[in-house]
Amino acid sequence: MHRFQVKGGRLWAEGVSVDRLAKAHGTPLYVYSRGTLVDHYRRLDAALGGVPHMVCYAVKANSNLAVLAALAREGSGFDIVSGGELYRVLKAGGDPARCTFAGVGKTREEIEFAIRKGICCFVAESEAELQEIDRAARGLRRRAPVAVRVNPDVAAGGHQKITTGTYENKFGVAFEGVAELYARAARMRGLAIRGVQMHIGSQITAPEPFVAAMRKMAPLVRELKAAHGIDFFSIGGGVGIVYDPALASGMAEWWEDREMPLTIDDYARAVIAETGGLGVQVQVEPGRLIAGNAGILVARVLYVKRTGSKRFVIVDAAMNDLIRPALYGSFHEIVPVRQLRSGASDPEWVATDVVGPVCESGDAFCHDRLMPDLRAGDLVAFLSAGAYGFAMASNYNARPRPAEVLVDGRKSRVVRRRESRADLVRGECR
Ligand code: LLP
Repeated sequence: MHRFQVKGGRLWAEGVSVDRLAKAHGTPLYVYSRGTLVDHYRRLDAALGGVPHMVCYAVKANSNLAVLAALAREGSGFDIVSGGELYRVLKAGGDPARCTFAGVGKTREEIEFAIRKGICCFVAESEAELQEIDRAARGLRRRAPVAVRVNPDVAAGGHQKITTGTYENKFGVAFEGVAELYARAARMRGLAIRGVQMHIGSQITAPEPFVAAMRKMAPLVRELKAAHGIDFFSIGGGVGIVYDPALASGMAEWWEDREMPLTIDDYARAVIAETGGLGVQVQVEPGRLIAGNAGILVARVLYVKRTGSKRFVIVDAAMNDLIRPALYGSFHEIVPVRQLRSGASDPEWVATDVVGPVCESGDAFCHDRLMPDLRAGDLVAFLSAGAYGFAMASNYNARPRPAEVLVDGRKSRVVRRRESRADLVRGECR
């Protein structure tokens, strides 16, 4: 469920019309719906009510301070992967004692920062890292809470760059050697063993991979609880969202990898069924599920041009603003912000490539997609851009990053101002 809707021929973010926001703040512009963010968090938290649990929002998906603050006020925990993300959570008023720190390459400085701030737990991804956390903790005369990320070797489908739960990739510790690793960790005096974690991938739209992984992990969780008294099992993030409503509605049944929504309730039911009897707290680390459909990217059409048989609509947003289509071939629905040319009840649909100004052929948001006949000056919105949108934006081609606006009912406010040209060279010298 999200609160971006077309009413009266215009796209609205909650109670604010998107064209008004574009006029006031310029384009490209990220627009977030606070109500959607909070609604997703609350629904997941409530659906997991049958088991002791903690929702740790994956900060990497969207780390704007206003997004983090909205979730912190709801009592959310946070899944962080760097010292920078911990800093952001603290700035947003989040509770460090509800932060878990994952990632394969934590530096000594980041480990010490997190120990000093009193995070809930490190999620270690190798024996060498456990040793480094142990040394850091002893140096500070502390015991660092740790869990180990276990790689359950379950294929979760999805794009190869975001699948993580098999032995083909760099994440976690192989399932087979985990019990011995915990035994060795138990002898490290700087560590306090707290839990165990898994994460199998991202944009997963069926419950089966989660169920298979949780089933594989359950005996291990029991064993680690008996041997080391672990008190939580984190099942990671990865719940997918609907990017393409045509696929989800079954209009394209012949597609092999149809994108069906995995509802919060179906996911939670599976989690409760598989983990309810384990006697430990269940942690989940959703990023996309919370933020994905809570944000859009608004852009303006600069030019329309034809070359050969192709029709290109060139917009003022580019791969540096939203890299998912260029990097993963991801689909984002693109809708006009205002119904085009009032009076035309049945707009002409034309095969269109929507592209950005960056000097790379890969800078395209879609190819040959049937779209209304867009013209220069029209506004378009890229939907489902709230997760891994701004968070992955860069200054490539010396393009200032967009402003971000948070809408709350009929109110809106800028939660990150547009970068200026001066921002582009901040910190540099010649
Ligand atoms: N926990 C861990 C350990 C993770 O590595 C991730 C995501 C999450 C939780 C959150 O996953 P989510 O619930 O958002 O699926 N940039 C890619 C996605 C990369 C995901 C990386 N890890 C994209 O735009 O699709």
